Amino acid sequence: MILIDGKKAAAELRQELKHEVISLKAKYNKVPGLTVILIGDLTPSQIYVRNKEKSANEVGLKSEVIKYPDSVNEKTVLEKIEELNKDKSVSGILVQLPLPKHIDKQKVIETILPSKDVDGFHPMNVGNLSLGYESSVPCTPLGCYLLIKKIEPNLNGKKAVIVGRSNLNGKPMMQLLLKENCTVTITHSKTKDLKAECLEADIIVAAVGIPELVKGDWVKKGTIVIDVGINKTDKGIVGDVDFDEVSKNAKALTPVPGGVGPMTIACLLKNTIECFKRTQI
Ligand code: GUN
Repeated sequence: MILIDGKKAAAELRQELKHEVISLKAKYNKVPGLTVILIGDLTPSQIYVRNKEKSANEVGLKSEVIKYPDSVNEKTVLEKIEELNKDKSVSGILVQLPLPKHIDKQKVIETILPSKDVDGFHPMNVGNLSLGYESSVPCTPLGCYLLIKKIEPNLNGKKAVIVGRSNLNGKPMMQLLLKENCTVTITHSKTKDLKAECLEADIIVAAVGIPELVKGDWVKKGTIVIDVGINKTDKGIVGDVDFDEVSKNAKALTPVPGGVGPMTIACLLKNTIECFKRTQI
């Protein structure tokens, strides 16, 4: 079984991006800039944002974090986004989720200029992705996609089963795999026989947030299994896949942690660079 090393893949991607930033700087005499807005003091969000900033600096991007207390009003945040939309030194804007209840998430997402939406959450980018046009692609499914392609460059006709239908993961994952000519099934909590669906798969992407849901006997021999889950349990952080069982049947499997997670941040940097390039023509 191939243990898919997300840390290594992310380090390689960052190295490529670092070289790209050097050549962009030589060509345009400026570097792409990423601005992250962090609201409140949720610890996981603070950790994510710190990692994003560290990685952005590593590849040579200009990076800025704007912090607000939980009590900030929506208008202040929207006005800051408008200001960043106009700022030519900012290529990408990311507002860290989740947001406090009094701030309308959708309004925030839709205020970000689609061309600076490094999360790929704006309806314009969601629409462009579904039409097969150029767009920012949400970082986690993009990271999963790159890991799958490393294992299997030709996905023509492969049967992919996605567990979970979220806007963040399941749906954009479907679009990326469809574009690669996979036959894609999206399963969810109302799916009649999840095990039977998974047993058909050449590729499984599990992104539901249920600890160790995907069992060994749900996976046929030779399947590529990507585990997006990060679940806190009594025995520590586990994914949506029962790692010990599934590793006996899978051709390749991502660990949790150290699989998809590191790729998500590297893809954010990739998206920032893509946003920069699209505005330099
Ligand atoms: N919080 C957890 N994951 C994400 C993400 O991919 N983007 C944003 N903006 N917030 C998050």
